[in-house]
Amino acid sequence: MEQPKQLIDKLEETSRLTKEEWIFLIENRGTDTADYLFAKARKWQHHYYGKQIYTRGLIEFTNYCKNDCYYCGIRRSNRNAERYRLNREQILECCQIGYGLGFRTFVLQGGEDGWFTQERLEGIVSDIRNGYPDCAITLSLGERPKESYQRLFEAGADRYLLRHETADEVHYKSLHPLELSAAHRKQCLWDLKEIGYQTGTGFMVGSPGQTSAHLAEDFIFIRELEPHMVGIGPFVPHHDTPFAAEAGGTLELTLFLIGLLRVMLPKLLLPATTALGTIDPEGREKGILAGANVVMPNLSPTSVRRKYELYDNKICTGDEAAECRACLSRRIESIGYELTVSRGDYGLTADAGEI
Ligand code: 5AD
Ligand code: FES
Repeated sequence: MEQPKQLIDKLEETSRLTKEEWIFLIENRGTDTADYLFAKARKWQHHYYGKQIYTRGLIEFTNYCKNDCYYCGIRRSNRNAERYRLNREQILECCQIGYGLGFRTFVLQGGEDGWFTQERLEGIVSDIRNGYPDCAITLSLGERPKESYQRLFEAGADRYLLRHETADEVHYKSLHPLELSAAHRKQCLWDLKEIGYQTGTGFMVGSPGQTSAHLAEDFIFIRELEPHMVGIGPFVPHHDTPFAAEAGGTLELTLFLIGLLRVMLPKLLLPATTALGTIDPEGREKGILAGANVVMPNLSPTSVRRKYELYDNKICTGDEAAECRACLSRRIESIGYELTVSRGDYGLTADAGEI
């Protein structure tokens, strides 16, 4: 087997590794390999996106959810979750405030909440589309029939985020109740791509039972899907879930995997996630230096932020919450990057720097 650095070179040149090579690379990484990887990751990040970091305004509009994922704080069995939903006017108000702050992408994210019927969702999407013709609308509403995705696309949505969570069916079953499957989740992603959405997938790093073989499958699936965005963040236990006592994912592994994603698919939009910022006070900055180029600060009203608690100790839910954009902007400038006011479409900014 080639050495880790040679495998990184191979990944850069061919964009693929075999399952065995992925496993070997992940299991034999070290600080030296990581530094080598991050230098390459930053080279590609600069090549396609310069020192620009894209922002998306995240509107967490409902924490009702019909699903019962074992890791998630808003799972339906969690009786302690205080449920809320924002109405159409409140969602539009978030967009208005966000637009004023410089956001040109709105991400509507929520649990799988039947109150938001197809008609209601289409109404909200077309209101945002008409009110903000220069903005991208991203949906993150979970698994839906293809027909529903199609109609939301026609109503004006451009992008959809749906993490596959884990590509391995057996591992998937250990994280979710029986009615959910990796196969169906993946099918949704193929449907979204086929409709024409800019599509985002992703997974949690260090979810219970995750092995390097599972991560290898995640990379192979992502290479095949060729999504526009991949969001990864550490698993962080939530106290009111069956996984309360499980260990969380690490900063070190998450950064390494961000670097690998950047080198495998160099044009990817890669968020430095809130979960990463939660497990380390400079997690998002470190994510950017490992190859990430997107941040998704919260635009939800501060009164509900604490309630969208997927995991414990989530940042940006307290007194500082109204200040996220300014705070992020400062943080990003401190490492030599800048937040941009732009829709930040996939690959459209190519050739921004030296290679
Ligand atoms: N820790 C980290 N990430 C989580 N998510 C859900 N629960 C947790 C948790 N406990 C992630 C899932 C989901 C996204 C919205 O949040 O990957 O797709
Ligand atoms: Fe939310 Fe810093 S990004 S307070």
